[in-house]
Amino acid sequence: MNLSDCHNFRDFRKLAKRKLPSPIFNYIDGAADDEITYSRNTSAYDDVDLVPNVLRGVNEIDLSTEIFGKKLDLPIYCAPTAVQRLFHYQGERAVAKAASKFNTLFGISSLSTVSVEEIEKISDSPKMFQFYFHKDRGLNDELLKRARKSNFDVLALTVDTITGGNRERDLRTGFTIPPKLTIQSMIEFGIKPTWFFNYLTSSPFELPHLQNYVKEGTNTVTSIGQYFSTMLDQNMNWKDAEKLNAKWGGHFALKGIMSVEDAKKAIDIGCSAVIVSNHGGRQLDGSRAPFDQLAEIVDAVGDKIDVVCEGGIQRGTHVLKALSLGAKACSGGRMYLYALAAAGQSGVEKALGLIQSELERDMKLMGCANINDLSRENLRFRSFT
Ligand code: LAC
Repeated sequence: MNLSDCHNFRDFRKLAKRKLPSPIFNYIDGAADDEITYSRNTSAYDDVDLVPNVLRGVNEIDLSTEIFGKKLDLPIYCAPTAVQRLFHYQGERAVAKAASKFNTLFGISSLSTVSVEEIEKISDSPKMFQFYFHKDRGLNDELLKRARKSNFDVLALTVDTITGGNRERDLRTGFTIPPKLTIQSMIEFGIKPTWFFNYLTSSPFELPHLQNYVKEGTNTVTSIGQYFSTMLDQNMNWKDAEKLNAKWGGHFALKGIMSVEDAKKAIDIGCSAVIVSNHGGRQLDGSRAPFDQLAEIVDAVGDKIDVVCEGGIQRGTHVLKALSLGAKACSGGRMYLYALAAAGQSGVEKALGLIQSELERDMKLMGCANINDLSRENLRFRSFT
């Protein structure tokens, strides 16, 4: 199996599984507790049906949307995700370059393996910096300064990782950053020789935004859960978010909003957008799916602030359903991560290309030439019929 055999999300996942050592594959593929929220994030889309219109002249399709003051050619972007160099030796470089080709937004995590300075040089599409609010205020200031200097367009404060989620697959496989070299892990790496060769022969694993401040992750082995639970400030509150926004002074979003109450507070502190997300089901299992929560958040705040639907998206029709409910854009992590693991930049380009052609085809089939033509008129919720 190779990239030419990948025609959808499931194919990329299958190829990624073949290429990656199991602890790394399961880090991407896993979620919290019983992974119920993780699977609901996608199945939520199946409870809503599309109602197409016809005879509307759909030769030219415009998929563009405007968010964070930027025009994106695609209404879906690459969510920030951590430690991408573990998934493929090109790491964040691959995603930055692929997103630039499609002129869509992409995110870089505080826990990225390529620096914001390097990313600025290689990308010319809009960029989001995903901010983790650390106890170490010096580190927070440094992150802000570097993202601003590197001309990032949006700061997204992650608000759903106040403590580490219970990711039992990681406990079972012993996944850490950097990967621990134990007899068991050497066996895992040995049976994935291409990954191991690339890992050893390309630039060493590091977390360039953190390493001058914390040993964890680059010089000391840690788990993601431990990192969240020990390094991040569990007292973070609305005042901190407001101050951070004021210091940043640009487009600011809260990533991980699930309630109407919080979406309203986001307006009060001057956010440009809320990202409705449960962190890919990786934090609070049993949390509602972003798509299920979208309508009430859009109804409450959609006229004042942009709403992004993040999580569970595997198909163009998922994006169309979220846009029909009133999302300004969608975002996804695994949507491009398996493709990154499968084939680096070419993989991410193929994943974005497939979602683009699905969206174009499905818009035509829906009788909509422009994403603004999508509305709730196009949807029927099965439970209400
Ligand atoms: C995770 C973080 C790092 O979910 O985004 O693993």
